[in-house]
Amino acid sequence: MTKPQLLIDTDPGVDDALAILMAHAHADIAALSVAAGNVGLDHTVRNACTLRDLLDASFPVYAGCATPLVRAPEEDAAFVHGADGLGDVGFPEPQAVAEPEAAALALLRLSRERPGELTLVALAPLTNLALALKLDPTLPQRVKRLVVMGGAVTGHGNTGKIPAEFNVGFDPEAAHVVFEAFPRFDLVDWEATLRHGFDDGEFDAWLAAGDARAKFFGRVFRTARDYNAEHDRRGVVAADALAMAVAIDPSIVTRSETRAVAVELDGRLTRGATVVDWANRLRRPAQARIVLEVDHARFAAMVRKALGAA
Ligand code: BDR
Ligand code: CA
Repeated sequence: MTKPQLLIDTDPGVDDALAILMAHAHADIAALSVAAGNVGLDHTVRNACTLRDLLDASFPVYAGCATPLVRAPEEDAAFVHGADGLGDVGFPEPQAVAEPEAAALALLRLSRERPGELTLVALAPLTNLALALKLDPTLPQRVKRLVVMGGAVTGHGNTGKIPAEFNVGFDPEAAHVVFEAFPRFDLVDWEATLRHGFDDGEFDAWLAAGDARAKFFGRVFRTARDYNAEHDRRGVVAADALAMAVAIDPSIVTRSETRAVAVELDGRLTRGATVVDWANRLRRPAQARIVLEVDHARFAAMVRKALGAA
């Protein structure tokens, strides 16, 4: 089987880091395009470069938008990922540097150079993708698949706007543009993430058995792990890792529902919510394959290998 070719839009980010380790272990990374989200763009770009150094890889890194399309965000996620986005470990300045081309332009160029080949994996607020779509609405025709980590499909979000998930809630207008433009995509939401955690002891055993990647992840993961423990999130939950598993191997999905999904752009309490037409009441085209369950053992095997603990 030929390896999937991945174009990864990301805001590293601790769970983004794990997802990128998985992509490197199981697929080919065509490029990382980087957005602001978990922390500011200067940090997320630097973290992407730190990850490239760790993997001794040569994929290009492109910096994207420093702010959402329209409104300034109300919150970032530094309280989970650390002020620098990678657990405040204090890594040295990376050797890798970002390319001069803007992320949205690089996404469009790569899709033209390799039409039908690339799976787009969106692990961040959707600002870069939305900008690319505004520049060239034909982008979806040239992408093999789109997998989005985002949303909370029954309103159990993870932000100050109760039903909103972070990636969609950080830039709702961008998510709206992307959800309207792609006729089909896989949606891996926050609620699926919570259903697919790993047992703490099992995960610690992988970290202990793994190589330099496990050592790295063990260090960057501490802040997020402490936050999760304090907030009653049991086990190891890694949203972007779950989305990456679906991007690498769609056959890992064991239960899904395909429905029309829209983004709430207003709403005093609900801006950024993903609204699913579960009963097809509006008869709109159902564009999102909502991932409900994946094969947990296969997901675990993918993560183990990415940590060098297989
Ligand atoms: C998503 O938000 C970010 O904090 C994570 O990196 C992930 O992409 C989860 O809601
Ligand atoms: Ca992310």
